[in-house]
Amino acid sequence: MNPEFEKKLKYNAEIVNAVLEKYLDLKDIDYNILYESMRYSSLSGGKRIRAFLAIEFFSVFAGLNKINNPEIILPVAAAIEMIHTYSLIHDDLPCMDDDDFRRGLPSNHKKFGEATALLAGDALLTYAFNIISNAELLTDNKKVKIISEISKAAGHSGMIGGQMMDMLNENKNIDVIRLIKTHTLKTGNMIIVSARSGCIAGGANEEEIIKATEYAKNIGLAFQVIDDIFDNQNSFAEAFEYAEKLTAEAVLKLDELKKINKNINIDTGNLEFFAKYLLERKN
Ligand code: IPE
Ligand code: IPE
Ligand code: MG
Ligand code: MG
Repeated sequence: MNPEFEKKLKYNAEIVNAVLEKYLDLKDIDYNILYESMRYSSLSGGKRIRAFLAIEFFSVFAGLNKINNPEIILPVAAAIEMIHTYSLIHDDLPCMDDDDFRRGLPSNHKKFGEATALLAGDALLTYAFNIISNAELLTDNKKVKIISEISKAAGHSGMIGGQMMDMLNENKNIDVIRLIKTHTLKTGNMIIVSARSGCIAGGANEEEIIKATEYAKNIGLAFQVIDDIFDNQNSFAEAFEYAEKLTAEAVLKLDELKKINKNINIDTGNLEFFAKYLLERKN
């Protein structure tokens, strides 16, 4: 991995962890276990790739649009990671994938019990939208746009729809079109909306947002193909080749993004490294 990019990835993750810690510094003497459960899963070392996308796309455009405060995007990045964490807590429950481990630790319900895990997930999802709507540095216009997009990506025509399809696909031979639709809904849409939220907050125009979306669509699918390789759902060589093709396509979209306005210099270097990092990642 490019050392500068590696540093950046690590630095961003640390910032996001600190912001999450701040938001989750909650106490109640009567039901503190809920907060412990929310903190347990939120601060257990995710890669923070969705936050990275939001922060990086924000930085790419904010500079160009004279938006100078890098903290503007942090509530959004943290909120997206909360929604992602909630989805994982619920995904691991016995009625879903029944997984005992997550991020190398006992899954939330193994540690806190099913009912608390369910509630911790509910609380993280709702808190995420509370955080964005109260983000002081974002204009109301941008907030509403971002909330509208994230709530769609996380809901019935996004991640939840994908989780439903995933359940319906179980023990069935599904064709590649159905597989891609499942992946796009289940994981793709949250990755796409992370990029789009960064663009919106950074003041990108419609044409720029479309290119960012196409980039994110490709890396999102590559991400899921690699994930399936980890879970042994795919023959390695064929799947990896497909993921490589998607990554190349994503990089192409960055080139197109840079060409939209020849008079400005858009630096997409980190986003190119990021696409390659997702392809070569080992967890
Ligand atoms: C894992 O997502 C689950 C899927 C959505 C496929 P990540 O690989 O981004 O998980 P963390 O946040 O880094 O643990
Ligand atoms: C989880 O998908 C994706 C969510 C939207 C929560 P998987 O069930 O395929 O991912 P892992 O293997 O549990 O991380
Ligand atoms: Mg699942
Ligand atoms: Mg699972």
